[in-house]
Amino acid sequence: MSEPTTGLGIDIGGSGIKGAPVDLDSGEFLRDRLKILTPEEAGPQVIADIVAQIVDHFPEAAGAPVGITFPGVVQGGTVHTAANLHGAWVGTDARALFGEAVGRPVRVLNDADAAALAETRYGAAEGVGGTVLLTTLGTGIGTALVVDGRLVPNTEFGHLEIDGHDAETRASSGAKERDGLSYHEWAKKRLTRYYRTIEDLVWPDLIVVGGGVSRKSDKFLPLLEIRTPIVPARLRNTAGIVGAALAATQDLA
Ligand code: BGC
Repeated sequence: MSEPTTGLGIDIGGSGIKGAPVDLDSGEFLRDRLKILTPEEAGPQVIADIVAQIVDHFPEAAGAPVGITFPGVVQGGTVHTAANLHGAWVGTDARALFGEAVGRPVRVLNDADAAALAETRYGAAEGVGGTVLLTTLGTGIGTALVVDGRLVPNTEFGHLEIDGHDAETRASSGAKERDGLSYHEWAKKRLTRYYRTIEDLVWPDLIVVGGGVSRKSDKFLPLLEIRTPIVPARLRNTAGIVGAALAATQDLA
């Protein structure tokens, strides 16, 4: 059977749940995405109902494989951590829950891993060999490791303990906002410390920076004092959806 050319990607985040049908040849949306705000304190069933609503919104993708990102560790479809979402997620079989809600098999994977798949196929890491580390800077810090084009899933380097703190609580863009830091302060102090630690542990050949703030990358990437080449993600805020759609076609294990 030939590979499907359309996938439906859904990206679950702390502030919004977004989905769109994706042309898997180009990595572009086939229609405008639909975004529904994540309700406060939303547990699994509430989110599953929103996911079903998003799937129903795109009848043209009725036969397409569905991929769904989650902002935590997902192994074999089961959620193991949910640092910035409701604790009730931990231990939930998300693949079964979402599969039942949408009426077809789904693939569920970590959000940063999905972004890395998209950047590797269509973006800043396309054709790059060696070790690529993708980091997403948002409410938390998501990380993904790609070695010679192959994803090593569920790395959680956003939670490295640095100077006695969970790194994402100091270096994420959420922490920048919370502490009222300028780009200069954030880059020179928090981000440089973060990326220096991780480059000493992982020795990547390239770092790709995603998340909403990567749109402003010219304001902070040039200020970093690190040795590893570092570039902004190319897909920006579509990477999660595109990577989810792509993952859905890869295998449903
Ligand atoms: C989670 C990661 C996730 C990242 C970005 C972190 O708090 O532990 O799994 O990728 O946030 O959403």
